[in-house]
Amino acid sequence: MDQILAEQLGSVQILKINRPEALNALSKSLVRELDECLDRIKQSREIRALILCGETNFAAGADIKDMVECTETEAKAFSFSPVFNRLATLDIPTIAAIEGYALGGGLELALACDLRIAAETCKLGFPEINLGIMPGAGGTIRAPRLIGPALAKELIMTGSMLDAQRALSIGLVNRVVPKGQVCEEAIKLACKIAGKAPLAMAAAKRTIDAGLEEPDIVSAVEIEAKNWAQLFNTCDQKEGMRAFIEKRTPNYTGK
Ligand code: CAA
Repeated sequence: MDQILAEQLGSVQILKINRPEALNALSKSLVRELDECLDRIKQSREIRALILCGETNFAAGADIKDMVECTETEAKAFSFSPVFNRLATLDIPTIAAIEGYALGGGLELALACDLRIAAETCKLGFPEINLGIMPGAGGTIRAPRLIGPALAKELIMTGSMLDAQRALSIGLVNRVVPKGQVCEEAIKLACKIAGKAPLAMAAAKRTIDAGLEEPDIVSAVEIEAKNWAQLFNTCDQKEGMRAFIEKRTPNYTGK
């Protein structure tokens, strides 16, 4: 059985995690399938937004049964970080649509996406500390950048789960919607984003992420100015501005 179900709706790619018997726990083979999907997406010129979702649950973490007997070397080889980093650095915008549990590696997968939409009944957290480990697929790095170190430490040190409203209030998710509507909401948002100029979208994403890495604000603003100016080499910049002046809808080609 495919552990990742891929569906393309126009220029929006949906990847659905499909391991319901284990609450979508992320096995090594499942993450390998995800990686193969990311490769295909990276090569596509048609796909302009990606949604990651699950049916009843997003993902209840890395597969504990796969990891229990790992040595240090095996744990390093098991790590999902390379794949999650590949997801985080895709040029296109990515959205995690979260129903049910997003725990441990599941939450880390959601954090590697640009945006998160959560069902009001979902539960998010880093339970790794309850298993004698800590988050190991970007959680200790991405969570503090998103919600600040104090709240990230509270989540990681207590291992407690948050509900959707609390997650929204601390900026861990972008939006909360009724149960069963996350995918629909994610598709609406993805379609809206996918209609924008793809090179500008990629530059905006890259610049925001570079800015988070760059502690010196002057250097960060210089990166922004350079990336901004480069967009004036694109046909889409001419098209976007001419369309505004001519009072028509722009037709972006990604060139
Ligand atoms: N790994 C492997 N199997 C898992 C799993 C996981 N992370 N989460 C759930 N499952 C399996 C259960 O073992 C169970 O399978 P069996 O029926 O074969 O026993 C099935 O999914 C249903 O789970 P429960 O019976 O436990 O369901 P529940 O509704 O009573 O509880 C839950 C739900 C609170 C999410 C509970 O399943 C749970 O605590 N899961 C583990 C969550 C967790 O600790 N995640 C972090 C993993 S470590 C990690 O992610 C490391 C990292 O940094 C990458």
